[in-house]
Amino acid sequence: MTPTPPARRIAVIGGSVIGLACAWVIARELPDAEVVIHEPDDSGPDGVPTSGAAWVAGGMLAPFSEAWPGETEVFALGVASLRLWNGFLDALAPYAPPGTSIRSATHTHMLAVDDADARDLEMAMSWAVGNDAVVVGGVTSTDLRRVTRRELREAEPSLARVARAAYRMDSEGAVDNRVLLAALTRACRAEGVTWVRGAVDSLDDDDIDADRLVLAAGAGSAALAGLPIRPVKGEVLRLRARPGCEDAPRGVVRAFVRGRPLYLVPRDGGLVVGATQYEHGDDRQVTVGGVRDLLADAETIFPGIGEYELAEMIAGLRPMAPDNLPILGADPDDPRLVYATGHGRNGIALTPITAATVLAAVQGCPVPEAARAAGVQRLRRG
Ligand code: GLY
Repeated sequence: MTPTPPARRIAVIGGSVIGLACAWVIARELPDAEVVIHEPDDSGPDGVPTSGAAWVAGGMLAPFSEAWPGETEVFALGVASLRLWNGFLDALAPYAPPGTSIRSATHTHMLAVDDADARDLEMAMSWAVGNDAVVVGGVTSTDLRRVTRRELREAEPSLARVARAAYRMDSEGAVDNRVLLAALTRACRAEGVTWVRGAVDSLDDDDIDADRLVLAAGAGSAALAGLPIRPVKGEVLRLRARPGCEDAPRGVVRAFVRGRPLYLVPRDGGLVVGATQYEHGDDRQVTVGGVRDLLADAETIFPGIGEYELAEMIAGLRPMAPDNLPILGADPDDPRLVYATGHGRNGIALTPITAATVLAAVQGCPVPEAARAAGVQRLRRG
């Protein structure tokens, strides 16, 4: 049997967090490869794109606090990715812009405000703890524990005393999404990755001269490859601390507030509050109702926000697959095409496992165990 020749020219379609991470890891691990990112948007600092969901994201590394009964493969993938984050951050740290830090939190508290919220939280956490995916991913579920109101108060003194139930997850933190994008861009440059600044309208474009195409175009992947990915809008508020205002929570705070999910993520000098979830197609407008709900729910949990500056309101489109699992790995019917798309709510969290899966696929090696269920073929069955 003739072995598949190793890929030498790799085109990454999409240059937000997933495309950047794939390009960086491929260029680093395959020094003979020529890696080109096709991304038209360079409107942010360091030339990072601001139109992708990653620019808007909360940046939580959160398989447990995103866990939902039945989503076993999504959970297993998230747990496996969480395990890779420390090494990924160590390798990336030298590229963080001076004076910045990629990590923005090292732990998470999950709270429920009323009895129904508490039932949902208990159900999700007992499902997560009892799940075999924890074993596959190698993160120990002993990092997750129920905390008393007193423990919560000691850990997060600025929160209102409204929790009916609370959990703490020690290994789930957050990264600053915008510093991450900048660091990845700088890391790509250091490894010799180059950019083509034009929009890609077709994967058959003659101008894309490559042995492998890595499709990392987020919500744009649907039109490029006929994938069943839909845009799910999320609105986020960025708050900046003002002199004398209450300290932001020390770690990530996730909450169900009368049925509505909310997160507060500490950032250098402030806080990110998210996120709404709407299915309105290609709609990136921030709505009055969305901002009202986020502020009301955030104030229920953290009354000190009233003194913060409302620095930014922004919406992004999460690229969501029908089963909430991303689409990762080689196309079995097209050896040139490798998928890295459809990450839904988990783009930042799944960045390291996505890059590892894409690297394996580009090399023709088996993908990580937790990523096997994420192949495109699952969407073609039946
Ligand atoms: N990762 C959280 C969100 O998509 O809102």
